[in-house]
This record gives sequence, structure tokens and C-alpha cells, in this order.
Amino acid sequence: MQPRDLSAHAVYRAGGPSPRAIEAIGAAASEVHVYPKSAHTDLVAAIAAEWELAPAQVWLANGGDGALDYLARALLDPGDRVLVPEPGFAYYGMSARYHHGEVRSYSLRAEDGFAQDAERVLDAADGERIVYLTSPHNPTGTTVDLADIERIAEGTDEDTLVVVDEAYGEFAETQSAIRLIEGRDGWDAREDVAVLRTFSKAYGLAGLRLGYAIVPDPWADAYARVNTPFAANTVACRAGLAALDDREHVERTVESAVWAREYLDSELDARTHGSSGNFVLVDVGDATAVAEAAQRRGVIVRDCTSFGLPDCIRVSCGTRAETERAVAVLNEVLVG
Ligand SMILES: Cc1ncc(COP(=O)(O)O)c(C=O)c1O
Repeated sequence: MQPRDLSAHAVYRAGGPSPRAIEAIGAAASEVHVYPKSAHTDLVAAIAAEWELAPAQVWLANGGDGALDYLARALLDPGDRVLVPEPGFAYYGMSARYHHGEVRSYSLRAEDGFAQDAERVLDAADGERIVYLTSPHNPTGTTVDLADIERIAEGTDEDTLVVVDEAYGEFAETQSAIRLIEGRDGWDAREDVAVLRTFSKAYGLAGLRLGYAIVPDPWADAYARVNTPFAANTVACRAGLAALDDREHVERTVESAVWAREYLDSELDARTHGSSGNFVLVDVGDATAVAEAAQRRGVIVRDCTSFGLPDCIRVSCGTRAETERAVAVLNEVLVG
């Protein structure tokens, strides 16, 4: 017996790129002798339409990392300070230092469930030029409410930009802080909030290096003064455009991550931290020993010692088969 003709149906591969993006990558190959001017313009227009923004507010970049660099370049004078979460994504501090900034941190604590509330950030804030928030946060998976982001923006100096990193935003149920920039749904419009998004996570295009910042309209034109002449390459832009159009693929990627998150929470024989990202932080005791033992059995997890969390590993959400295997191996290692 054979099923009906399914040749027109793409096979869904969780975690991989959209088949439409793969096709666009192939098609873009014959265009690469030309600088990416129109590819860039087309993608920016599509992102702007997606979020209902002016195209100038979309600062396209070589990954979210590149967008962080553009923001630092646009904001920081030598010696300006920035405030970063600890634990947190290391590139905030690196980018600020590359731009001659100085780095201070606010602490997220395991005993408070790594909560990212306004008081914690405001207690640490002291006239920094940029305050970085991550929602969902890497590696803990917690989110920041829009009300807290507003309080942080209100409570910090007039010249402080609050960068809300939503690299994992598609996986969360929280709303994007773009609402605060634009003053939608009853929020007051703000000039001191920027949002970071990327094609690396839910869109599965990490290898192409494509991300962007959304900035308030009044100073959006600064992009022209800080970007490299061609901020993202043709192949990445064409793939990004196709990926944006494949909503079903993103939805299935998110569904698959949510399933894996729940499976990890319920099946791992260790304490997990509820996550809104495509990974779960797990308390395991000796993270280095557990990560090494799992790797010897063919399962790679992130030892979070470098995040300052030597008791924790971060487990990525994989396909059903990968996630089931990761849980089986980790449970074996945790007993041993
Ligand atoms: C919190 C966070 N922000 C930003 C990024 C940057 O992603 P990319 O440069 O691949 O877009 C990452 C990547 O791991 C991340 O974890």
C-alpha cells in the first residue's frame, strides 16, 4: 500500500529552516555578483509591514549580534556605561566594550526564580546609557512583562536606552515590546526602548547571520550613520524574506519547542526552571560532570558554568526523538 500523492507536501523538520527559505537560498545564488541593495530593501519592507512600522525603524544587521553592535555604535561615547543581566548573554558586554563602553551588571537570582522585575534592574541602574533586558532570557527562560519594561524605562535616566532582546520572542506568549515603542494597545509611545529580533532561532537561519533592531522613529535615521554599507548579504535577505512568508513553518517550530519544553519539565529526573524559550535550564549539581557524561553518550547540552551557574545545564528543545533521547541519557547520567 502507498499513501496518496504527497509530493507537493514539504516534510517538516523541526528546528531546521523553512523549505521555502532553502529554495530561496538556491535561487539567490545567481544574484550574488550584485551588491545586496534591493534584497536589503525588500526584506526591510517586509519586516516593517509585519510589525506595522516605518522601514527606517528596521535596522537590519549581520545577526542579532550585529544589531547589538549598531545600537552600541549609535549610542555609546567612550567611557559610557551599560547595564547587563548576570547571568546573561555575553555579547551585550562584549559589544559595549568593543565600543569603549564600561560594563556593570544586575543579578538575577535562582532563589527568586531568576525573576526579571523592574525593582531589581532599577536598584542596580545608575545612569547607564544602555540597559539590556532579555525576554525570554538566555539561559534561564524567564520573560519580562511590558509593565516592568515601562517602569524600567521610566525609572532610568532620560538618556538611557532600554534594549529588549527578543531573540527567542516567537517561543514566548508575552507580547513584543514593539508595542511600547509604537504606543499601541494603550501603552504610551516611548523613544527610549529598542527591540532586538533574529532569524537565528524560530526561523532556523542561524548560519546566515540575519537579525535586526527595531528603534523609535524619531532617531531611526541614525542607522545610515552607523551601519556598514551592506549590513546583510543577498542570500540571507532572500532567505529571510521567504522564511517570513512561511508562517506555518514558524508555528510548527514553536509548537515543537513547546512540546519539548513540557516533556523536559515532566520527564527529567531533576529540577527544571519553567522556560519561555526553546531550551530549558536544569539543576543537576555538577554541571560540568553531567554535560561531559552526556556528551560521551552522544547528547550535547550546555554546561552553564560559564554563565556563573555551575549547578545548571541548558538543554535545547529538539525533535521528539532527539528530546526523548536527551531525557533518557540525562536521567541515566543523573542516577550514575
Ligand atoms: C539572548 C540572545 N540574544 C541575541 C543572540 C544573537 O543571535 P544571532 O546573532 O544569531 O542573531 C543570541 C544568540 O544565541 C541570544 O541567545
